[in-house]
Amino acid sequence: MTEHQALLEQRYGAQTKPARMAWNAQIAALLLHRSVRNYLPEALPEGALEAMVAAAQSASTSSNLHQWSVVAVGDPALKARVAELASGRKKDANRFINDAPLVLLWVADLSRSHAITCDGGGDAQVHDYLDAFLMASIDAALAAQNAVVAAESMGLGVVYIGAMRNEAQALAELIHLPRYSFVAFGLVVGKPADLPGKPETVRPRPPQSVVLHHDRYDFQRSMAGLDDYEAEFGKFREHMGSARRSWKESVVHYNRFDYMDGREKLRQAMVERGFNLL
Ligand SMILES: Cc1cc2nc3c(=O)[nH]c(=O)nc-3n(C[C@H](O)[C@H](O)[C@H](O)COP(=O)(O)O)c2cc1C
Repeated sequence: MTEHQALLEQRYGAQTKPARMAWNAQIAALLLHRSVRNYLPEALPEGALEAMVAAAQSASTSSNLHQWSVVAVGDPALKARVAELASGRKKDANRFINDAPLVLLWVADLSRSHAITCDGGGDAQVHDYLDAFLMASIDAALAAQNAVVAAESMGLGVVYIGAMRNEAQALAELIHLPRYSFVAFGLVVGKPADLPGKPETVRPRPPQSVVLHHDRYDFQRSMAGLDDYEAEFGKFREHMGSARRSWKESVVHYNRFDYMDGREKLRQAMVERGFNLL
């Protein structure tokens, strides 16, 4: 098996794989992504954060407005409080935040644009609209994903933390965010600690027919592709020592209302922070 076949095997298992696919070193590295939830309590190599931020700033940004920021939390006491705010019902859900040297809080940030527009006699009314909120959130996500690629290229591990929205207002206050900004998600960064018996491996994805449509969206074809995914998903859960559960059961599980853990109040928190979402 070639190195490329092995990468596809990890990503798709026995499911249909692309028959022809372009390859280079960057694509190969992307296929190796896995979330890391066990960290060594070691500092990041010198310059790693700056490299991640340069990569993040190299992402496209809507209208060159740079409507995102990142708060790098390394102070252990502050990081512990951040972990607490993100833990929700399960008190130790994100305890690995305490082991990792750094958590990056990615901020969808209209604060600079708002001040500049008001000072410049412009019309900041656009910031009352859902599109401005989405623009800043998309910018933050694109920047963060570039930082992830940079981190992984340096042998570091990461995991995104959407649970940073559980207590959006409290977190914003904790890190002194200005109005017209909020933490869209967190990103834990550190050196992976692969624990014996808990190997964090590449998580298989459904076949491309589930997500790739040609010219017109084909719902039936997309859903049909999911049947093959169950077997790979089951193998992965078994490998991780997780309880037996189908992927479709997982979808139902994660869509339970109580899983929102406070995020059901997000709209209200956003309005308090200045986003009117019209
Ligand atoms: C926006 C976003 C938020 C996430 N939030 C969490 C989280 O709060 N806790 C967690 O353990 N993983 C979180 N994840 C990681 C996903 O569970 C993970 O990416 C997914 O299961 C696929 O696994 P992989 O990243 O190893 O391929 C999040 C991922 C994304 C993209």
